[in-house]
Amino acid sequence: MTAFTSSTTSLPQASSVPRHVAIVMDGNGRWATSRRLPRFAGHAKGVEAVRTTVEACAKAGIEFLTLFAFSSENWRRPADEVSLLMRLFVGALEREIGSLHANGIQLRVVGDLDPFEPRLRRLIAKGEERTAANTRLTLTIAANYGGRWDILQATRSLLQNEPELAADPGLITEAALEKHLSMSYAPEPDLFIRTGGEQRISNFLLWQLAYTEFYFTETYWPDFGPVALEEAIVSYRSRERRFGRTSEQIATA
Ligand code: IPE
Ligand code: IPE
Ligand code: MG
Repeated sequence: MTAFTSSTTSLPQASSVPRHVAIVMDGNGRWATSRRLPRFAGHAKGVEAVRTTVEACAKAGIEFLTLFAFSSENWRRPADEVSLLMRLFVGALEREIGSLHANGIQLRVVGDLDPFEPRLRRLIAKGEERTAANTRLTLTIAANYGGRWDILQATRSLLQNEPELAADPGLITEAALEKHLSMSYAPEPDLFIRTGGEQRISNFLLWQLAYTEFYFTETYWPDFGPVALEEAIVSYRSRERRFGRTSEQIATA
């Protein structure tokens, strides 16, 4: 496994194209309601936006794309909406794995998968296995994911693996804990995008967003695509990523 530089312990390389883009795909419901359609129509259209965005990211040379598809809090939604979202997930996996694979895309799913039905878990495992050797773009779907869940499961996993740390907690380092986070295979996101106009994290990648650039757009997720992605990247390019330093230090570096 590749070791990545942590933005809080050392200085990551910043480049004009973000290596890792993480997106909160929000606004499906409002997209539908504004057209007098049922919410599910927005979710169905949202799946299409996933396809075009994945393609656009691969073309732009982005190495990691992480999409928040279902949060640990989304179980609070009406049961019929939750089951529709699950069915859409199953359908998308069945339909898209072949073309993801053909396009050199590696699929990963992060989150607590235990509550999912066995059929969905099997599809995820098969999809991950089939695409495991692909290197063009790593597409991560966060499903039943919560940033707090992730930090907690990483802490438990670290202590299970190295029980001696419990007796001497001063030995616990950022790097040691990071290895147990569910996205330890990826660098931290360079660019965070949230569609739908809300300006919040909603319990997405809490640990990993420490130094990520944030971009919020009013565009509803079903309307997101290559053009909106390019706008976000243009905004990203205008940012000065100081990682704690001064502008003067960056100018002379
Ligand atoms: C995002 O769209 C999809 C999920 C959270 C699963 P929403 O369903 O949250 O859409 P809005 O925010 O109600 O418009
Ligand atoms: C965040 O969207 C989760 C996903 C996009 C999967 P929500 O629509 O659930 O977020 P809140 O509830 O408005 O914060
Ligand atoms: Mg929402």
